[in-house]
Amino acid sequence: MRKTVIANWKMHYGPVKAGAWIRAFRRERLPKDLEIGVAVPFVSLAAARSSLGRAGVPYLGAQDAFWANEGAFTGEIGPAMLKEFALSFCLVGHSERRQHLGETDDMVAKKAISLQKNGIRPVICVGETDAQRKKGETLKVVRAQVAAVLSAGLKVDGAGSPIIAYEPVWAIGTGKACSGQDAKVVHEAIHDMLNKKFGKAASEIPVIYGGSVDARNVGEYLSTTHIDGVLVGSASLDPRAFGMLCRASLPA
Ligand code: 13P
Repeated sequence: MRKTVIANWKMHYGPVKAGAWIRAFRRERLPKDLEIGVAVPFVSLAAARSSLGRAGVPYLGAQDAFWANEGAFTGEIGPAMLKEFALSFCLVGHSERRQHLGETDDMVAKKAISLQKNGIRPVICVGETDAQRKKGETLKVVRAQVAAVLSAGLKVDGAGSPIIAYEPVWAIGTGKACSGQDAKVVHEAIHDMLNKKFGKAASEIPVIYGGSVDARNVGEYLSTTHIDGVLVGSASLDPRAFGMLCRASLPA
């Protein structure tokens, strides 16, 4: 499986700034064997769609989607609407949404399934808080989050096949990256669950790591068994830094 590197701009860059990022990123030399994606805010999808391909980024993504395709849900954006941008993937259940917007496992599962039905890969984010980690509950919490989407009917299904992103909440935006070895234990547990559920087909589901990934530590994650890619916040905001991270992702 080729390694995946996804930028999550979070709440940064409207269409004008998104255009400037993409123009700058076009100058970056990128490794050929890397699956590179960028998750942009809804308002920048159109701008990004028209120019990301030329910047060497094949995969455009959104950062959230509602579970219904359309209807009386003021302010929400449904997967069928996102499909018009020919999105490859969409994040769901990011811990910032669980924390600030009250998203539950049940909501995250409904969003993931609905995206799959529309042929968009859900990137399902899971991870424990600092308090849970300190109580030794990391695996219990992550397994419960993954189990919630599996029991809701997640499928391994071509274009809509999922990606699981393990993002320990305490490592997000803190500079306190989880060590490759600590992340490995959790990735292995997630892969085990996927293997039990899907058998051979589970090998199509990448399990990627997120939380303070940068150009210095990305090589460690991507050379660790069971870590199939990375999800990058802060270090993706500067196109040059993100280009450097992409180059540091694979052995020279
Ligand atoms: P940072 O890379 O800023 O820690 O953010 C990680 C993240 O939340 C990616 O989705």
